[in-house]
Parts: sequence; structure tokens; C-alpha cells
Amino acid sequence: MKEFFYYAWWFFQCKVLGRRKPLQSVIFISDRCNLHCRHCFVVKEGPDCHIKTLAGVRRDLQYSYDAGSRIVDFEGGEPHLWRDDSPEAQAATGNPAGADLNTLVAMAREIGYFSTTVTTNAQLPITAQSDLVWVSLDGLQEAHDDQRGSGSFERALSHIDACDHPNLNVNMTVTSRNFNDFEGVARLVKEHPKLRRFSFSFYVPYQARELMVTPETRSAVIDIALRLKQTGYPLMNSEAGLKLLRDPKNYIGKRQCWISNFINSDGTRLAACHGESAGICEDCGFGMGAEMTLLWSLHPAMVKAGLTVRSAK
Ligand SMILES: C[S@@+](CC[C@H](N)C(=O)[O-])C[C@H]1O[C@@H](n2cnc3c(N)ncnc32)[C@H](O)[C@@H]1O
Ligand code: SF4
Repeated sequence: MKEFFYYAWWFFQCKVLGRRKPLQSVIFISDRCNLHCRHCFVVKEGPDCHIKTLAGVRRDLQYSYDAGSRIVDFEGGEPHLWRDDSPEAQAATGNPAGADLNTLVAMAREIGYFSTTVTTNAQLPITAQSDLVWVSLDGLQEAHDDQRGSGSFERALSHIDACDHPNLNVNMTVTSRNFNDFEGVARLVKEHPKLRRFSFSFYVPYQARELMVTPETRSAVIDIALRLKQTGYPLMNSEAGLKLLRDPKNYIGKRQCWISNFINSDGTRLAACHGESAGICEDCGFGMGAEMTLLWSLHPAMVKAGLTVRSAK
């Protein structure tokens, strides 16, 4: 109930009073990863690779909370690799092992966040105790391994099989190399007893453009998604969001990407997604971008999807 009132208050302040307060924060806790996916715009090595401290993540959480945010997504790099075993973290946690990912989830709840999310490549056992977990699956075995590295599909599936998280979901990043597996991944999610929902985005060209799907393929994937949704597949993207996603130019002036703020591993704060600063909104493929546009107009499908994805029932 408290959450409902807060969301209503947030909407009133932003829509009626014209404020720009984030509701969701994407906090990159590290650039370090155990995979090197073809399409990834985050992962780094050497001096460019930043790993936040426990105190750094607390600062980001508090900053975003004070700005208005109540939903946090811990991103990386691979979040399950994150640790801080410095003397400061040992003292702050009272644990000789220091802090791990679940220390951050607990910290977010203690600060007052209503909901926490972790996105993972599932190459390690899925131990995140966030309210929501997204596992990235970028195809069936061959296409996933082509995009994410040999053996990564089998490892991800074995960790999904072994995971008892009540709100385990799959996200697929659709590229020019894996789009043929779109329906196969949706079916895998529908039939897997441990998985609840499926969502997808199209590759966003921060780097190579050859991983982008053509407009015709994009449209064909969206047609498949609409058909699957109408036949009862647990697809998270709403019908209206899917129609918007067909051509990002159609909603470029209606975007409300400030609803999420982003804080990079090096501490850089962005008031909207990386695509905006990179000037590539015309090629945006983020399913969430379309859904946030709908949230702003209180589209019933988006409101329903937003409420159900965060409940474990
Ligand atoms: C950056 S990863 C971090 C979490 C974790 N390592 C994983 O792979 O799920 C989070 C999500 O961003 C997606 N992603 C990475 N680069 C992307 C790009 N250029 N366009 C669209 N999605 C991208 C990944 O596929 C993944 O689903
Ligand atoms: S697993 Fe995630 S963070 Fe790592 S390289 Fe792949 S997309 Fe990037």
C-alpha cells in the first residue's frame, strides 16, 4: 500500500508538477565479467575496468533514493562476481569475509528501496536474493554460445535448473546472429518449470553496427512476439510496447528515458540511458524504453506488467 501511494505521488509530481525524478536506478557495480560477449557495451579490462567498493555502492544507492528512485537494478559486468573484502567492508558488515552481492541487496532494502533486481549471465550458481532476477539467454545452445562463448549455454541452463529463486526470468538480446532462435528461447522459458517470464531487447549499436537486425527482421521478430503473447506465452513486453519497438523513430519525441537513472562503475552519473548520451536513440532496441513511454501515459498494459513482474506470485 505504501508503495502504491509513493508511485501515485511520484507520478503526480512528475506529470503534473513537471519534475524529473527517477523511479528506477541502474547501478553498475563492476565492469568485470567472466564472459566477453560479442554485443556487450559494458565489460572492460585493465585500467579501464572499475569495481565499486561497498561504500561506493552505498553512496550511489543513497544518491538515487534521495533523487526519488525506489527500484534498483544491480548491473555489471557480472554481479555475482562482485565482492569487497577490504578492512572497511569487513568493519561495515561485521563479517571477516566482507561484502557480496546480497549485502548490496540487503543495503538497498534497508535504505528503503521497494524492489531490487539482479541481471546475470548465470555462469555461476544464481545466489542473488533480489526480488527479481533476469538471466540473459541469447539463443539456444549454438547461437547463445556464438554470442556469449563456448559452454556458456550449458552452464546457464544448469544453474537455472538448480535455482529455486521464485522470480527467475529470462532476457534475450536479439542480434543479427541469433534472431532465428527467438521463438525457441520463448518456448524454452514457457516450458521450463523454474522460469516465469521472458523479455527481449534488440541489440543497441554502441559499437559494431553489424550485430543490428535489419528493419525487416526487427518487424518479423515483433510479429512473432505479438503472436506468442496472444497465444499465452509469458512475454513481459506489452503488446503496445512491442508495437512501439517496431520503429524507434516513431516514439523518439515521446521518450521518457529519464524515468531510469544510470550510474556507471567509474561513478559517472547519467540522468537517462547510455543511448541518449551516445546519440543513438534512433537505433534504440531497449524494450524498457518503449515500456517507459507507455508508463508515462499510464497505459493499462504497462501498469499491469510493471506490477506483476515484481511480485513473486
Ligand atoms: C551488460 S549485461 C550485465 C549483466 C550480466 N553480465 C548479463 O549478461 O546478464 C546486462 C544485459 O545487457 C545486455 N546488453 C549488453 N550489451 C548490449 C547492447 N549493446 N545492446 C543491448 N543489450 C545489451 C546483455 O545482453 C544483458 O542482458
Ligand atoms: S556476460 Fe553480461 S557483462 Fe559480461 S560480457 Fe556478457 S553481456 Fe557483458
